[in-house]
Amino acid sequence: MSSLRLAPAAAGARLLGLGSVQPDTVVTNDDLARRIDTNDQWIRDRVGIRSRRIADEKTLLVDMAADAGALAVEDAGLTPADIDTVIVATCTMPNPIPNAAAQMADRIGVNGIGAMDLNAACAGFCYGTGVAADMIRSGTARHVLVVGSEKLSDWLDMDDRSVCIIFADGAGAAVLGPAETPEDVGVGPVAWGAAGDLVSTIGIDEKNYLRQEGQAVFRWATTKIAPIAMEALDKAGLTPADVDVLVPHQANLRIVEAIAKKLRSQGARDDLVVADDIVHSGNTSSASIPMAIDHMRGAGRVRSGDVALIVGFGAGLSYGGQVVVLP
Ligand code: COA
Repeated sequence: MSSLRLAPAAAGARLLGLGSVQPDTVVTNDDLARRIDTNDQWIRDRVGIRSRRIADEKTLLVDMAADAGALAVEDAGLTPADIDTVIVATCTMPNPIPNAAAQMADRIGVNGIGAMDLNAACAGFCYGTGVAADMIRSGTARHVLVVGSEKLSDWLDMDDRSVCIIFADGAGAAVLGPAETPEDVGVGPVAWGAAGDLVSTIGIDEKNYLRQEGQAVFRWATTKIAPIAMEALDKAGLTPADVDVLVPHQANLRIVEAIAKKLRSQGARDDLVVADDIVHSGNTSSASIPMAIDHMRGAGRVRSGDVALIVGFGAGLSYGGQVVVLP
């Protein structure tokens, strides 16, 4: 038997464009304190959030995914017809079928392309980026749109003050395309995994409300995620001193700072930029990393060509990260 023909491979993948959207409605800590027994100081001190965006009933997760995706395609200098695969990282679809990816692809005007959802909770964007980069490198895909979109407000018990103050809504997206030469490669190998033995620490209960064991998740994230970030760096052949921007999943500012502290102790530069988008966006799960980068770019805190270390973690407990060069 003759050998099977394979698609022509690329040197690797790189990020071509980014986009993000948030609902218009801003909910401050004081707004929450009028409804439940909490206060602005407690939330700032323990989580770092000052305000978050919450979608209205009519706005669907797919709407936010399509809007962020369309912005990323435009930012990449492409048209929707150039996209051949869509991956929507999400854990908050109202129903398991139909998936978000096929709907959002249709919404941005493309049909007949590969379209799948990927659920690795708050690690979803890094998982999606890892899958997309390998698809491009192997020649399976050329331009992949990876979107993290979440409507966490659909799953919140607004009487559970340990949860409802943290989570929020929004979408962030990136377009990945081929690197023509090894020097152009802008997405490093993914370092990922899952701690299924801790699965009970975050989940949806029988009433469809998100519950978590806050302290257990906090302890896990502050000890186990920095080593994953270091592993992603090592896999890319880089050291902490090579990193311009650190973008951990925006779960809690204290967790972000713990990861940054570890990177600094391992030789990160004094001018390392650390994402703190949670302050005004809350925890938007799989949307938080691309949204944070897009906001930092808009604020002029990061530039094209910067080396970013991204690392996601959340329910599962799933985790994953890689190095990306910003578009
Ligand atoms: N406002 C005021 N008080 C609150 C509160 C709130 N929103 N939520 C909890 N408290 C109270 C508790 O009832 C408790 O009171 P008590 O001492 O009288 O019993 C006290 O604050 C301390 O609670 P504790 O759960 O120990 O607080 P904490 O410092 O661990 O903070 C979290 C709680 C949830 C903010 C924190 O554990 C956390 O962020 N964990 C990580 C969760 C996470 O990142 N999840 C997403 C992963 S993607």
